[in-house]
Amino acid sequence: MNKITAAITAVGGYVPDYVLTNQELEKLVDTTNDWIITRTGISERRILKGEGKGTSDLCVPVALEICRKRGISPEEIDLLIVATVTPDMTFPSTANVVTDKIGAKNAFGFDISAACSGFLYALDTGARFIESGRYKKVMVIGADKMSSIIDYTDRTTCIIFGDGGGGVLLEPNTEGYGLIDSILKSDGHGREYLHMKAGGSVKPATLETVTNREHYVYQEGKMVFKYAVSNMADAAKDVMVRNNLTADDIAWLVPHQANKRIIAATSQYINVPDEKVMMNIHRYGNTTAGTIPLCLWDYEKYLKKGDNLMMAAFGGGFTWGASYIKWAYDGDKVGK
Ligand code: UT7
Repeated sequence: MNKITAAITAVGGYVPDYVLTNQELEKLVDTTNDWIITRTGISERRILKGEGKGTSDLCVPVALEICRKRGISPEEIDLLIVATVTPDMTFPSTANVVTDKIGAKNAFGFDISAACSGFLYALDTGARFIESGRYKKVMVIGADKMSSIIDYTDRTTCIIFGDGGGGVLLEPNTEGYGLIDSILKSDGHGREYLHMKAGGSVKPATLETVTNREHYVYQEGKMVFKYAVSNMADAAKDVMVRNNLTADDIAWLVPHQANKRIIAATSQYINVPDEKVMMNIHRYGNTTAGTIPLCLWDYEKYLKKGDNLMMAAFGGGFTWGASYIKWAYDGDKVGK
């Protein structure tokens, strides 16, 4: 029997309605539309508004869209993995909340915390369950409500992040489509440059931590930028070399959307021209675990069966990696 690979058979995405523009940010912090566009490429991002709404509310429409497009019931899902750093609650996992909300009664679920690389970590993990032969339908969602941990008085972070999520369904394939190879890495020393100071077991929430604004993203942008540029590009290159792929073999680069300058550095390093680079950072900003599946969602109609996709990400941890996918269906035949 041929080897089982984990093919992506459907894609879903969701961004909330509220649009936070650069012009609105100009009124909140000392910044300009021009600075934000030049330094990051971002024009606007989406924000999930409403009392009691969390990351699971970003995941539910994603999961339901995937089920609708694939023509399956949520009860057919075996496993749901949610990549997020903004879970509804510290516990239980957001995946558990989502399976309950969508009626995925036969699924088990868990979360993966790998910041902006979360979707790639979750995808690779989900693929192992499919390859084992024991699971037939694994849903992988990357979603973050970044507005819940962003300080809207800090101009160095509030301009970058937005809320949103996307996901895919993985199913067994014996014709060689799906996830072919990944390189995933982490280096904990990078936590110094990108983290949240309080709210974990080391420094639980107190009045003082709230007063000191320690429950927000802390980032030393320049340092993160430096590591992101080299590591994302190296990971993509290494996956290409290991699989004998040249730039011409790549139909699409699917990069994490953190900064258009990081994306440009990565695509230039592996020689993939701009027209083959998925990009939606100008509309959504950095949605952390949501960026890569949101790219797939936006570009699905252009994807053809057999296309080679190279996904690459870098984020807090540090975490980073790249994944090589052979696309399994013609995207233009799928309705939204
Ligand atoms: O996805 C998770 C991983 N995260 C990333 O990959 C993010 C990586 N880092 C970045 O994308 C960039 O470092 C930022 C977008 C965060 C910052 O861009 P930068 O070009 O690295 O700016 P900088 O931090 O070097 O700051 C340059 C100047 C500084 O002023 P001085 O010291 O030169 O006078 C900043 O104070 O720009 C100033 N600045 C701003 N000015 C206007 C910083 N933020 C802003 C702002 N508006 N929002």
